[in-house]
Amino acid sequence: MTIRFKVVQVGLGPMGRLIAALLASRDNIHLKSIVDIDPELQGKELNELVPSSASTTQVSSDLDFALKNVDVVVVATTSSLIQASPTIKKAVQAGSNVVSICEELSFPYTLHPELSHELDSLAKQYNVTILGTGINPGYLMDLLPIVLTAPCQEVNKISVTRMMNSSKRREPFQRKIGTGLSVPEFREKIDKKEITGHVGLIQSIQMITAALGVKYSEIKEDPPEPVISKESFITSYGVKVEKGQVCGLRSVAKAKNEMNDGNLVTLKFIAYSGDHDEYDRVVISGIPSITQEIEGGVHGDLGTAAMVANLIPHAYNARAGLHTMKDIPIPCNTQYIWKSNN
Ligand SMILES: NC(=O)c1ccc[n+]([C@@H]2O[C@H](COP(=O)([O-])OP(=O)(O)OC[C@H]3O[C@@H](n4cnc5c(N)ncnc54)[C@H](OP(=O)(O)O)[C@@H]3O)[C@@H](O)[C@H]2O)c1
Repeated sequence: MTIRFKVVQVGLGPMGRLIAALLASRDNIHLKSIVDIDPELQGKELNELVPSSASTTQVSSDLDFALKNVDVVVVATTSSLIQASPTIKKAVQAGSNVVSICEELSFPYTLHPELSHELDSLAKQYNVTILGTGINPGYLMDLLPIVLTAPCQEVNKISVTRMMNSSKRREPFQRKIGTGLSVPEFREKIDKKEITGHVGLIQSIQMITAALGVKYSEIKEDPPEPVISKESFITSYGVKVEKGQVCGLRSVAKAKNEMNDGNLVTLKFIAYSGDHDEYDRVVISGIPSITQEIEGGVHGDLGTAAMVANLIPHAYNARAGLHTMKDIPIPCNTQYIWKSNN
């Protein structure tokens, strides 16, 4: 007899919709309910919001009710762990495992040491797992380079570059990287934290250095630099961006190493609208040196939804506690893995 994983989706923004639609389409998953606080979404069926989905699962705001008898709760509400943690704690206290794409959860120990400890203890108390995942952070700029170092006798430097055409991504992503702002607006909104830019480079570097056990003198992320549009264009959500306005950003984070006086890990995240090359490239300088490039890059939104769906069996089966992507068995596609095959 095959038994499906019972899952609740919390957060039904553009990312939550992609995730929910994928969960609903998987034979090994039963999407029991969807929770979102947006009043306009209440009572709607998933297929009204995602036309490609056949799912009639309804949206409600009643998290407590939704949490009854669930294996895994997926949280896709925010990048901030402080904001996500009440939902995560409620899910854990209801006896459910948690998979979340909250970027700060991908490696939470340095930015939120006390909260990390609290979440770990709570998860152990209720015998469940909390796992932060996603495409980035969660895979492309951390787990993938970590795994690529396995055949290296020596690692001196790691450099990862993610280059993407942001016009293919969801609207909130394009907005948070400043699309359509003037350069002064971009800098002001970044300074005032009204837009976040990409969140996760620091967590990715921390995951890499923790996995490799290397000592660093400093981890630093520079403020993102705007990319200026060379021509006017209309965004995928119908807003005109003039020539000279911001069409994306470049973010760089580095872990510096006192030993070789250089940059031990360098992560470059470049996302802007335009028909340009896209790739995910990892360069490891060592013995042997390794260069791995994913031509065309991985589509961030589709990839994130897949990471969540694929990590559900891992979260269900992992030992209790708070885990990051470097702590769990090898992630892979799990559409053929059932809760029970007995
Ligand atoms: N790790 C990764 O690789 C990765 C990849 C993609 C996205 N992300 C992150 O995932 C998050 C979701 O992405 P998105 O573009 O869909 O964001 P979004 O547009 O902000 O959507 C979030 C949704 O969650 C709802 N919500 C907020 N707090 C809630 C709560 N406590 N309970 C229930 N629903 C709640 C929001 O409702 P209101 O609009 O009414 O507030 C909104 O409908 C973002 O923070 C994004 O940065 C991570």
